[in-house]
Amino acid sequence: MTTYRIRLLPQDVDFDAGEDETLLSAARRAGFILPHRCLIGACASCLCRKLSGEVNYQLAPMLTEREQAAGWILPCQAKPRSDLVLTLE
Ligand code: FES
Repeated sequence: MTTYRIRLLPQDVDFDAGEDETLLSAARRAGFILPHRCLIGACASCLCRKLSGEVNYQLAPMLTEREQAAGWILPCQAKPRSDLVLTLE
């Protein structure tokens, strides 16, 4: 399994995420609890911004193309496709 390095701002901490796990799960495994509620991509509680890198979704996320172009992702559904820099700010 391919593993990617995820940097989380503003805490400036790193954790590893496998290509088949969601960013929320990978963060939790590393001891970082990200905001969340529904875990199914519907509530947007987990919304955070991707400053660099690529993510993938099994199903199309409930985000507009414009939101995705601005970097918004749903970590409860997004899986990494590269190293990433994310910000909760
Ligand atoms: S936790 Fe609800 S959309 Fe991610």
